[in-house]
Amino acid sequence: MKVSVLYGTETGNAEMLADDIRSALCGKHDINCINLADLDPGALSSETFHVFVCSTYGDGELPASAKPFAEELARTGDGLSGIQFAVFGLGDAEYAETFTHGSLKLAELLKSCGATQVGERMTHDASGDCLPEDVAVPWISEILNQFPVHSKEM
Ligand SMILES: Cc1cc2nc3c(=O)[nH]c(=O)nc-3n(C[C@H](O)[C@H](O)[C@H](O)COP(=O)(O)O)c2cc1C
Repeated sequence: MKVSVLYGTETGNAEMLADDIRSALCGKHDINCINLADLDPGALSSETFHVFVCSTYGDGELPASAKPFAEELARTGDGLSGIQFAVFGLGDAEYAETFTHGSLKLAELLKSCGATQVGERMTHDASGDCLPEDVAVPWISEILNQFPVHSKEM
């Protein structure tokens, strides 16, 4: 299956996690990583499964590298019919009121433009004990296992 791991980051944690996911899944899937800063929403394809990894900055806002993508998506307003995605949020529970709201906002925006979310949004707390890859790799592996092994659609 073609899988794109698309990350939105401010200081690099989401990029490192996206690369960990890529390393864990390569060999099983045709997988690449792209910074959302380098992606036009029009390039999303129904032949690819999209995994968004996104942190939160400011007061529950998207990180800098995700903002132009989100602004363009909000401007165009639709056109993501047939796009399937999963979303993983990085954040810090010290920010209790806005914990991982960047990934939440991104998921809501994608759905409002017609994309379909697969699986539950998963999150990681930077103040917690576990590593983000130890949460994210089993989570995304289980989601991808829902698809037929030789899916012709992807
Ligand atoms: C100035 C600042 C603001 C932040 N605001 C939030 C927030 O509102 N909610 C949250 O869950 N995490 C917040 N965080 C935590 C980051 O999301 C977390 O450190 C994350 O791992 C950063 O990932 P990145 O390097 O990919 O941007 C904030 C961190 C900083 C430094």
